[in-house]
Amino acid sequence: MQRKKLVIGLFGFGCVGSGLYKVLGKEAVTGQVATIKKIVAKNPLKKRDIAPHQLSYCKDDILDDDEINVVVELTDDADAAFQIVQAAMQKGKAVVSANKKMVSTYFMELYHLQQEYRVPFLYEAACCASLPLIRNLEEYYDTDTLQSVEGILNGSTNYILTKTFNEKIQFADALKTAQALGYAESDPSLDISGKDAAYKLSILLIHAFGIHVQQEDIFTVGIQQINEVDNAYALARNQKIKLVARAFKQLDGCVRFFVMPAFVQHDHYLYHVDDVFNGVITRTHLADTHFYAGRGAGALPTSSAVLSDIAALGYQYKYEYKKLVSAGPKNISHDCLLQVYVSFPIAKADFVKNYFTEIGEAFSNSEKGYFTGTITLKNLQALQQKDEALSFILMDVCIAEEEQKHEAAWQEEAVLEFE
Ligand code: HSE
Repeated sequence: MQRKKLVIGLFGFGCVGSGLYKVLGKEAVTGQVATIKKIVAKNPLKKRDIAPHQLSYCKDDILDDDEINVVVELTDDADAAFQIVQAAMQKGKAVVSANKKMVSTYFMELYHLQQEYRVPFLYEAACCASLPLIRNLEEYYDTDTLQSVEGILNGSTNYILTKTFNEKIQFADALKTAQALGYAESDPSLDISGKDAAYKLSILLIHAFGIHVQQEDIFTVGIQQINEVDNAYALARNQKIKLVARAFKQLDGCVRFFVMPAFVQHDHYLYHVDDVFNGVITRTHLADTHFYAGRGAGALPTSSAVLSDIAALGYQYKYEYKKLVSAGPKNISHDCLLQVYVSFPIAKADFVKNYFTEIGEAFSNSEKGYFTGTITLKNLQALQQKDEALSFILMDVCIAEEEQKHEAAWQEEAVLEFE
């Protein structure tokens, strides 16, 4: 297939934008995939290492240029980015974006724009930077039905958890370094509150299960409440705490999903995913388990995904949204039972206890305490809304007996196959 000549208009010259500019400047690396004609940056007062004829502060310098056939959108403002992307698509330009908040928030509008203007819109860099997830979820896991997708989707929080847990560095200092290294969002509260991971999970849900939900509809617990009692609990059991996003299909056909810190056993795939790395596990009936790991943030890993999308445009690749448009039922449910650890100031012990279905371990000293036990997702949500200062950490998802039998039957069949 003849590769199309790609002429890029780039919006945003922050960490990722400048990284992409550098990479595209090295022809040996890119094989002359594309050229950047114009870059529109935000702040005219900032000194930038760009040839003056390439630099502009006016969006129309890209949008009105007919030679530019690809818009690469790497800004951090979801609403302004959507206006730009919408205008670009209306003018027939293909778009590549790394803006997870925009893709998640405006997904239905963006989907319809792709249909109406017949232009590709790719966003591999919006989920886990360098990990090739979206195209794989869309293309590979098409016939062998996915059972679950779970993993560490945010590099900054994984970096912070690694530094505070392994190296005993203060949370604020670890966050500062994550910012300095270009991992964190311009508003880092999006990282530590778990919202960034929830935006990414909302995008993965589209390509994994054909479901679109807004970030607000994903139960999300961040890492800001994790304290020394929690870390000591994990350490004593040879576990680590990771911020994990999960989406899983159960026997009733419903997909359940949430983002929350989780204890990870030393023999779990995610245990060794430290620092800025992300790790994602997919499970299907036929293939069983796949594990993806790689750098989840930073200028060059994110540029690598952007570049891969740009290259894919060269052979007219576009998402078909196979699962989204397929006729089958796509039900979601927030009804599930979880085994959860919660730590709290001692005065709140009775209040917290009331929300639990069953209490397992319990510990308290004169100031603090924790419980482990089972709690419904709905009660967990209610408890979090009542008191945002509590620290919740997932131990396990409680699987009903019937569900366990079903899984065991599949596994037995898979083993017999090889005997
Ligand atoms: N702030 C994000 C993270 C950047 O830390 O994962 C990559 O999406």
